[in-house]
Amino acid sequence: MSDSIKYLLEESKAPKFWYNINADLPKPPPPPLHPGTKQPAGPDDFAPLFPMSLIMQEVSVEREIEIPEPVREIYKQWRPSPLFRAKRLEKYLDTPAKIYYKYEGVSPTGSHKPNTAVPQAFYNKEEGVKKIFTETGAGQWGSSLAFAGQMFGIEIEVFMVKISFDQKPYRKFMMQSFGAKCNPSPSSATDFGKKLIDEDQNNPGSLGIAISEAIEAVVKSGGNAKYSLGSVLGHVLMHQTINGNEAILQMEQAGDYPDIIVGCTGGGSNLSGLMFPFLGQQLRGGKKIDIIGCEPLSCPSFTKGKYAYDHGDMARMTPLIKMHTLGSSFLPPANHSGGLRYHGMSYHLSHLLELGLIRAKAYGQRECFEAGVSFAKNEGIIPAPEANHAVKGAIDAALECKAKGESKTILFNLCGHGHFDMQAYDDYFNNNLAEDVYNEKEVNKALESLPEVA
Ligand SMILES: Cc1ncc(COP(=O)(O)O)c(C=O)c1O
Repeated sequence: MSDSIKYLLEESKAPKFWYNINADLPKPPPPPLHPGTKQPAGPDDFAPLFPMSLIMQEVSVEREIEIPEPVREIYKQWRPSPLFRAKRLEKYLDTPAKIYYKYEGVSPTGSHKPNTAVPQAFYNKEEGVKKIFTETGAGQWGSSLAFAGQMFGIEIEVFMVKISFDQKPYRKFMMQSFGAKCNPSPSSATDFGKKLIDEDQNNPGSLGIAISEAIEAVVKSGGNAKYSLGSVLGHVLMHQTINGNEAILQMEQAGDYPDIIVGCTGGGSNLSGLMFPFLGQQLRGGKKIDIIGCEPLSCPSFTKGKYAYDHGDMARMTPLIKMHTLGSSFLPPANHSGGLRYHGMSYHLSHLLELGLIRAKAYGQRECFEAGVSFAKNEGIIPAPEANHAVKGAIDAALECKAKGESKTILFNLCGHGHFDMQAYDDYFNNNLAEDVYNEKEVNKALESLPEVA
């Protein structure tokens, strides 16, 4: 076993393919349904929103999908990303566990999101798309798509959840630096946004609302624009597997293999990206891994949501997806600092949870920041508030190992740095960060309006 703390993969050894979990699932996830007919949705139903190459990736069962050369060329700017062994953190926790983390904060926008933004912009460009609309929460996804759009000469317009637009302006400036337009959501640029503003001028926005506005803008563009999503869908999760494919090679360099994999879960893409290639090995007869998704207590789709068909957006325009959901009208509390504020969960991860192949935990934001600060003090990297959920999950797993005297190997995804989120750290240090609360009443109300599916 190596005693390094940093495992870098040479550029020449960078994986040239994404891994497609559809090839190895014991049974396929339930199909998306057309919102009108409630019959399985086919490729043509998605064609107004996405380029056909991405739609075909969504339904593909090919195990390896080649990463196009122009995408690999852009990936080279920050990939392969480093794998670190958190030796100082292990010592601080006094645990016999070994903790590794894959660091995605080295990307141009500071998170894992460009791993899918770049190929999405590429496939749109190939099919002649000139403009893409999207939504963003705290701005990680919007800034990443803005960067990718700039790489391929595609115009990007973003609907950014209003509370973040007002309170976290720096990623908005980043989007502008990459030439994208950024609107607060709800906005007066769409009918749905105007309706919500008329009902409540102080509507803080949500990802579900911003998705509705972006889709409405695409529909109104009359075929001149497409839509792009930064998480949840299968092709997004698959693009993220570049990270797990690298991690397999880097764990080999370390002479180790994970017993436990941890990631934070908003829509599910960063956890999936890291663990799908390992889970694929398990499903093909390899070692069983304990896989843990960590989410916020205030928006606990995975641990408290109902596994049911629901819309991906609040205006109920998207196809119905079978997922763990808090109800598409659920408004996550505005005082949650991280970007993990989505009412649903990826249909792949939801399916895997139902199959018992992964598990989920919910944490309050204060305990996550406490974990993030311990991590920063020992490892010198300040995690994004979202990533703090994974740090907390990994520390918990390491402390469990300590209690049981087990020397397990833990791998987690440090999916982004927190350099643009220092206000949230200041709020934490000054006791101004509200504790997360699970609002069961609001969730039950939102679940009452789940669509009926036979
Ligand atoms: C840094 C970071 N990590 C994680 C997430 C959650 O998304 P996902 O579960 O798709 O990785 C977000 C969401 O925007 C994010 O910005």
